[in-house]
Amino acid sequence: MSYQFIDLFCGAGGFSKGLELAGFECIGGIELKEVIAKTHQLNHKKSKTIFGDIREIPPEKFAEVIGTNHVDVIIGGPPCPTFSTIGHAKIRSVTGKSVSEDPRNQLFLEYLRYVDYFRPEIFVIENVPNFITKYKGKIFNTAVEIIENIGKDDEGNGEGIYEVVKPVQVVNAVYYGVPQTRRRMMLVAHKKSNKVFEYPKPTHYYDQEDEESKKLKPCNTVEDAIGDLPTITDNWRISEMPYSKTEGLTEYQRLMQSYGNGKTIKNNICRMSNDRAKRVFPHMAQGSIYMDLPPEIRQILPFREDIFKDRLKRLVMKEPSWTVIAHIGMDGYMYIHPTENRTLSVREAARIQSFPDDFEFVGNQQETYVQVGNAVPPLLGKAIGESIKQYLEG
Ligand SMILES: C[S@@+](CC[C@H](N)C(=O)[O-])C[C@H]1O[C@@H](n2cnc3c(N)ncnc32)[C@H](O)[C@@H]1O
Repeated sequence: MSYQFIDLFCGAGGFSKGLELAGFECIGGIELKEVIAKTHQLNHKKSKTIFGDIREIPPEKFAEVIGTNHVDVIIGGPPCPTFSTIGHAKIRSVTGKSVSEDPRNQLFLEYLRYVDYFRPEIFVIENVPNFITKYKGKIFNTAVEIIENIGKDDEGNGEGIYEVVKPVQVVNAVYYGVPQTRRRMMLVAHKKSNKVFEYPKPTHYYDQEDEESKKLKPCNTVEDAIGDLPTITDNWRISEMPYSKTEGLTEYQRLMQSYGNGKTIKNNICRMSNDRAKRVFPHMAQGSIYMDLPPEIRQILPFREDIFKDRLKRLVMKEPSWTVIAHIGMDGYMYIHPTENRTLSVREAARIQSFPDDFEFVGNQQETYVQVGNAVPPLLGKAIGESIKQYLEG
């Protein structure tokens, strides 16, 4: 039987999908937004994914929903807390809302309340890299202290059950086959044991100079990500289309297509850029940004130049993409197609995030872009999953 996990703050389920690709079974997810929970449910058939505010869903209730209070692993990315403002006060009780009224603290503590209830063998908290360094490490240190207090009583007596794997690492998705540079903190904690958790070793190289790294595969690029996808234009509305090619594929394209139906791809819609943007795009070379444009072209689409220097950015075919962010749902000017005068389609962004081709997004255009941009790239999730598996198997 495969190891079972739940995903808190599951979003569309990039992280969940990654663990499933590593052989785990997702049996539950919690997500605030209904449409996003639908995406998670659709792509994780064995999961009981519920939508709602985690603060209003006690773990006991969730255990009823998923039909068990035994899970091997918990994953999730609670928003970055703000403990630093309150120092180390009142951190003993995991359920203690008294830590502060800031909802980010509450959400982080909710995650740990679930850990305290389910007591999984191992859990992963995914977050932005500056979780570790913000306020000179105060947030991070407090978070670790809270985790290591799980299992003690409210007075701090007794033994903590969990230990945090140190040093906590920031991993870059590009080193694990994702055609994108994207750095995420992965805080891993497991029950005290003799076993050792090892972060995944890179499989691809990008910017390393040393000879050892160059023995790895070269990193995947935007061309690997989107070179076989259908040819479309700005404001494309037909979601399902045949691939532009199914032969002569790169390794990454073959991998992505191997999950699909072999013929067509979904969610390949593209937003409409405004007319002025469309007049500017042809002047942009691959890798160039707004401020590289001559002043007379910038005037066509004026932005405050002191703060919007890279308001427009054209991707480079032979390089990995820069980090795809949730804001890609609001506008896509920082993700202009390398050779076409339009922004990326939802599917192209999903490919850059390494979502396999059978992964389908539910919702309107903006909702689907946001789900893609918010996700942990599945291939990064898979690499973490494989490390977890090695740990569990000792
Ligand atoms: C960064 S995204 C998660 C992405 C996900 N890990 C993935 O790989 O696809 C965080 C998600 O948490 C959800 N969320 C925020 N507040 C929440 C709450 N109070 N209860 C449950 N979910 C919440 C958001 O709607 C969002 O979809």
